Amino acid sequence: MSFKVEEVLRSRKLAKGIYETFVSYHGEAPPPGTFFMVWVPGHEAIPLSVAGYRGDAVRFIVEVRGRTTAALYTAHKVGLLGPLGRQAPVPSGKPLLVGGGVGIAPLLYMKELWGGELLFGAKSAEKVPKIDGIDEVATEDGSLGFKGTVVDLLKLRPQKRDVYACGPPSMISSLKVLAKEMGLKGYYSTEKMIKCGIGICGSCVLEGKLLCKEPWLRLG
Ligand code: FES
Repeated sequence: MSFKVEEVLRSRKLAKGIYETFVSYHGEAPPPGTFFMVWVPGHEAIPLSVAGYRGDAVRFIVEVRGRTTAALYTAHKVGLLGPLGRQAPVPSGKPLLVGGGVGIAPLLYMKELWGGELLFGAKSAEKVPKIDGIDEVATEDGSLGFKGTVVDLLKLRPQKRDVYACGPPSMISSLKVLAKEMGLKGYYSTEKMIKCGIGICGSCVLEGKLLCKEPWLRLG
């Protein structure tokens, strides 16, 4: 497997420090829950979850966290390696999708393919992406939607559906506590240092598994 040179077709700001970008891609439809390593010339290769697929392009949602993520916004060409990881297990029925921050990316693609309801949490309104697909928003400061975390919001939902969650480690920790209390079932993924993306460097171990090979872990 090696990087293929692809074109950045367009990028658009979605919220403070968050943007989407479409990159040309001519392979088979990427399975939901997978990711690509995206190499930005002059910078590093970063892991980005598939947030959508349009037949000739993949969509990524990116938060600016350093030089590489900032440079990708204006890049014309990138190297693409993937799809990597593994398809998330298919839900039985319409899932409840729970995202925090850019953890929303894989859930947007799942919603496109599987339907379901998407809950999204951020610290404040300025970090909520202006995109279709979000059914309900929670903000910690109450500046938009439900006041509290997205896990607080999840407590108010019927719990019969499979839950697919992706977000920062703090969100996943509270989700696991809630899953125990309320008997939630489903899968989760989180941010972890991913360097090689192909299972050889060992930087992405979570609960004894390589997250780059198995990005979706069982919840409950
Ligand atoms: S990122 Fe290298 S082993 Fe997972």
